[in-house]
Amino acid sequence: SHFRSGVPPFSLISDPAAPNQPFVIGVTGGTASGKTTVCDMIIQQLHDHRIVLVNQDSFYRGLTSEELAHVQEYNFDHPDAFDTEQLLHCIDTLKSGQPYQVPIYDFKTHQRKADAFRQVNACDVIILEGILVFHDSRVRDLMNMKIFVDTDADVRLARRIRRDTVERGRDVDSVLEQYAKFVKPAFDDFVLPSKKYADVIIPRGGDNHVAVDLIVQHIHTKLGQHDLCKIYPNVFVIESTFQI
Ligand code: ADP
Ligand code: C5P
Repeated sequence: SHFRSGVPPFSLISDPAAPNQPFVIGVTGGTASGKTTVCDMIIQQLHDHRIVLVNQDSFYRGLTSEELAHVQEYNFDHPDAFDTEQLLHCIDTLKSGQPYQVPIYDFKTHQRKADAFRQVNACDVIILEGILVFHDSRVRDLMNMKIFVDTDADVRLARRIRRDTVERGRDVDSVLEQYAKFVKPAFDDFVLPSKKYADVIIPRGGDNHVAVDLIVQHIHTKLGQHDLCKIYPNVFVIESTFQI
């Protein structure tokens, strides 16, 4: 490899604000694709850093009593099911180094806990995970790295049936009905089209250890640059200009 002629190996610019902000990773994919599993694997390998996981699920709107009465008609896979303004406020707050009280959502009652929150503190890395985190361009624009977890639909449906009957208080018939009526159409309309925004696509989700290792290496490199900036706050490396 050679340096581009006349250009030093690193471009140095002065921007004291940006490098102290947390590194934001977005992780999306269909229901039960292994998003949470992949995030947990990344978090385990990045134990040296302060890292928090924010789930888009936490920002589901609680259902009104009328919506609850017809819950089989409610589309939990449509972007309107989430309070995206509040999610934006959460990530903005964390990026500015302030703590945030994340709501706690209950999949059995379809409600948020009335007076309990999860306090999330300042951190080096924020992972934002959910089926529709790439849908809104304002949320996407907060991300430094975007990952799409790509797992076959039959594998996802099988996992979803098991999870929703064991953990979310559903019966098999209601899971299958909801899947056909809302989950699959919304995947085709909203989730799959957001794949084009991904920097990295992980086939097979949490089974793909090579992909997770590569992602963790990349984050280490990026955080190393952040650490350099903390030592030399007026100068930081924005781009290596090595050519292959
Ligand atoms: P998501 O966050 O995309 O909904 P999860 O990571 O929570 O997906 O996984 C959904 C379900 O599938 C969970 O019950 C989880 O234990 C299971 N699961 C996830 N990845 C695997 C895997 N590689 N092998 C077997 N089961 C898995
Ligand atoms: O964890 P996962 O990404 O699968 O969570 C998103 C799924 O949760 C959506 O596909 C939605 O259908 C489902 N959901 C539900 N009941 C709720 C809220 C979300 O079945 N009350």
